[in-house]
Amino acid sequence: MRVREWDPLTAPAAEIAAIVALLNEAMAIDLPNDPLWRDDTMREYLAVTMPGERKAMWLVEENPGDAARGVPPIGEANILMLGDIGVVEVIVHPKARRLGVGRALLTEVVRRAKAEGFSALGVEVPGDTTAVEFYERFGFVRAFTEIRSVLSLSTVDWFGLGEFAAGVGAGYQISFHAGGPPEELFVAYAAAKAEVREAYDLGDLELRPSSYEPQRLRASIDTLAARGLKLYVVVAVRESTGEVAGLTEVVVPQQHPTRADQYDTVVVPRHRGYGVGRAIKARMLFELRSAEPGLAEVQTWNAAVNEPLIRVNQELGFVPDRQWLEYEAELGELAAVLKVD
Ligand SMILES: CC(C)(COP(=O)(O)OP(=O)(O)OC[C@H]1O[C@@H](n2cnc3c(N)ncnc32)[C@H](O)[C@@H]1OP(=O)(O)O)[C@@H](O)C(=O)NCCC(=O)NCCS
Repeated sequence: MRVREWDPLTAPAAEIAAIVALLNEAMAIDLPNDPLWRDDTMREYLAVTMPGERKAMWLVEENPGDAARGVPPIGEANILMLGDIGVVEVIVHPKARRLGVGRALLTEVVRRAKAEGFSALGVEVPGDTTAVEFYERFGFVRAFTEIRSVLSLSTVDWFGLGEFAAGVGAGYQISFHAGGPPEELFVAYAAAKAEVREAYDLGDLELRPSSYEPQRLRASIDTLAARGLKLYVVVAVRESTGEVAGLTEVVVPQQHPTRADQYDTVVVPRHRGYGVGRAIKARMLFELRSAEPGLAEVQTWNAAVNEPLIRVNQELGFVPDRQWLEYEAELGELAAVLKVD
């Protein structure tokens, strides 16, 4: 079996389309209710990373040249190198599973991670998929559990939502911004994220690190745009002090524009209990309805232990969908199991 390194930046368009087909044929089996990927800025989505991060990808084809002819490869793997941790993804075509393709791809990932001097690998695994057994087989250990919830906009009680949006304590100014927070709010916005991060370390692996420092925030906003991900934010500002009391971020990916991803929602601890969390999330849904008429759903991930946020989400109509698990493994152990020297 030949595993070849593949660079989305320079790959022919037919190969990008072939990867999209692989992802969709796998998704139809693993996550049958998820919207399919569209080949729209998919090259950028796959190739672009945050400054300082790098990505490597590999393919396995049934016959050499398949992908260039638009035939889906039978497997794909990539590693996102985040500094001191590598985040892995391995996807094998349903018709080619249990034949060792996943193992061969993971072996290449581990070889690269070892050469880069990483000490550990992390992976996000959708619950109730074959990926759970696969990663556990190679010694990955579950480190953190999240719940993914999905809100269908067609079920939203817009009248009730209007009450949530308005039901915020006096003295908070709520505003909506396409493309990220306005320049004058950057420092306060990043500070709110930093404060919440420090107050609540939920124990996750930071496989999707948040940007809580102004320069990094700017870089992350630019990177989202370059990857074809449209960012919308709603910010609650405490009028008397100018501080950011709460914020919520939603991204609409051009690659699956009917389902948006809810990113961070943050309410600074001393501003809790004034309806800020509900109000900003409700306002976001109203704004999305007009800014993104093609949008049908919003998905979000919450730590299983983050009960206040889960409650707010349920009030808004989010329905728990499935567990989303973070696994990690020591590189030395992985290299031993996979016989990488
Ligand atoms: C997980 C995945 C990558 C495994 O690929 P694969 O090529 O089938 O894996 P391998 O054949 O190399 O299996 C290696 C070992 O993992 C374990 N394993 C893999 N799939 C398993 C399953 N369904 N049940 C139990 N063990 C399994 C076995 O120990 C297997 O060794 P064995 O076949 O000798 O018993 C593949 O099933 C997949 O792509 N799943 C979906 C991934 C995903 O996250 N999807 C969501 C986004 S679309």
